[in-house]
Amino acid sequence: MRLERRLQAGPRRVHPVREDDVTVVDTHSPHPASPSGGSDWWRTAVIYQIYPRSFADSDGDGIGDLRGITEHLEHLVDLGVDAVWLSPFYASPQRDAGYDVSDYRQVDPLFGTLEDADALIAGAHSLGLRVIADIVPNHTSSDHAWFQEALSSAPHSRERDRYMFREGKGPHGDLPPNNWISVFGGPAWTRTTDPNGAPGQWYLHLFDPSQPDLNWESEAVRLEFDDIVRFWMDRGIDGLRVDVAHGLMKAPGLPDYTPDPQGGSMGGDAEVATPYWGQDSVHEVWRRWRNVLAEYGPDRILVAEAWVHPLHRMAEWVRPDEMHQAFNFAFLECPWEASAIQQVIDTSLAEFGAVGAPSTWVLSNHDVVRHASRLAVFGKNPQGHGIGPLSEFKPDRVVGLQRARALTLVMLGLPGSSYVYQGEELGLPEHVDIPDEARRDPTWQGTYGGRYGRDGCRVPLPWLSDSPALGFSATGETWLPQPHDWAALARDVQDGVEGSTLEMYKGALAHRRTFGLGAGDITWVDLGPDVVAFDNNGVRVIANLSGAAVPFIGKVLTSSAPVDSAIPPSTAAWVLPKPAAHGEDQA
Ligand code: GLC
Repeated sequence: MRLERRLQAGPRRVHPVREDDVTVVDTHSPHPASPSGGSDWWRTAVIYQIYPRSFADSDGDGIGDLRGITEHLEHLVDLGVDAVWLSPFYASPQRDAGYDVSDYRQVDPLFGTLEDADALIAGAHSLGLRVIADIVPNHTSSDHAWFQEALSSAPHSRERDRYMFREGKGPHGDLPPNNWISVFGGPAWTRTTDPNGAPGQWYLHLFDPSQPDLNWESEAVRLEFDDIVRFWMDRGIDGLRVDVAHGLMKAPGLPDYTPDPQGGSMGGDAEVATPYWGQDSVHEVWRRWRNVLAEYGPDRILVAEAWVHPLHRMAEWVRPDEMHQAFNFAFLECPWEASAIQQVIDTSLAEFGAVGAPSTWVLSNHDVVRHASRLAVFGKNPQGHGIGPLSEFKPDRVVGLQRARALTLVMLGLPGSSYVYQGEELGLPEHVDIPDEARRDPTWQGTYGGRYGRDGCRVPLPWLSDSPALGFSATGETWLPQPHDWAALARDVQDGVEGSTLEMYKGALAHRRTFGLGAGDITWVDLGPDVVAFDNNGVRVIANLSGAAVPFIGKVLTSSAPVDSAIPPSTAAWVLPKPAAHGEDQA
């Protein structure tokens, strides 16, 4: 059987891909077509996460904005991704960097205007990029009009019923309604003061006190979010990344719960019994949203941020009538161990496959230590457990980057959809030396300095080695300090330079498209105990986690470090094991 593979992209810069053994069809459509049809684009897509505060600042205030993103979209086309996901840019007091929304239908002036959002969406579409926006349904900001109305309304009123208000315990109600603790540290309840100055009811906030949890039992809340979803769909958004999608429903009666100290704050291995994560009743919300999206046709998607374990529970979020994708945090949390990596890949493909969903793959995001640092110190890294000046372990930058590049080639060689977090294509490490006074993550304050939080992975990007703020902002302002030695990692220093991390990503993404790896299927190849090796659509992916070089036969398509007749330790390569002559049957 002759294989015909398609390029999935619209206009793109040509990369030096050897295509002599495949027929390549470049569709040049405004939206990428995928081998299994345009509406299934998400099954194989590589989606680039933009953290707007730190991507590019067009107005010089030190905080990235929508225009900055639009100005750089060509760079993402050049990189070779299919879509972007934007962390929240809505009106917000920014106490949790925009995950505290005060108006879901407005753009925060820090980031621009609704017109800027429209221009960004149109600009991306014209370049063949899809756009996924974040949505934050578990909680609003305490500045949201609804919460302000609730505070000035009586207990048990319609206004209070939109949130989780409860009476306190104890004779005077001065103890919280239960023992839940917040993800950012401290109790998950805050007491209100009645309009007459007397102590009043308590409200639940699984995160910061400025992020009151909504009551998803309330039909008023559900209707409001149906409308917000439509608002952004009407503006042409291709999908929504749903924040804390495992948190909306709480167990009846809000029973006490003491989390396993080993588990992550967002839900760990023992979270099955947690009364505020992963309740079965949350799934009806996703079925409802799926129906709202269906009004817009088959190609708009929902992506779950659901920190649930094990993978077969996570797969419940992507059953055919629920969401389309869920972030695969089990892959992100995997240590640098061949057997663990192999197992998580097998389980992911099996569990997501069992419900007809593609697996996703992700190594970094705005909540965890960047994988170019994490892989040198630990695998599992619960949200908010950052690295700082006094941390016991300091990641070795050389080891971390070597491993990160190798594991990235494993990730991009897998079938399904991959997420790339801004800056990982430059090999950025975690910024581990942010001074305490510059920290902005509420985790740092909420734990009284007990946890460094997530600032270290959110540092503004270095674009130009020789410009103020490394090209992030013309004035040199940055909302978080950039490390002094990041000039060497700036995009302009890596662009077009063979062997740079940026060129490795570009090359891998181009080959991934040419060989249709996202739509492929893997077969494991046994090359030794500490080697992860599999075949996917004629490409052999080999990652050497052992201490000795691994010999191979074939033609190297791309590699994470220089390779000749053997693959050195901590290195991965994509190899054509038996290059077929032009026109020869490959299958
Ligand atoms: C999600 C976001 C995180 C945020 C939290 C509360 O986990 O990714 O950044 O702080 O939700 O909204």
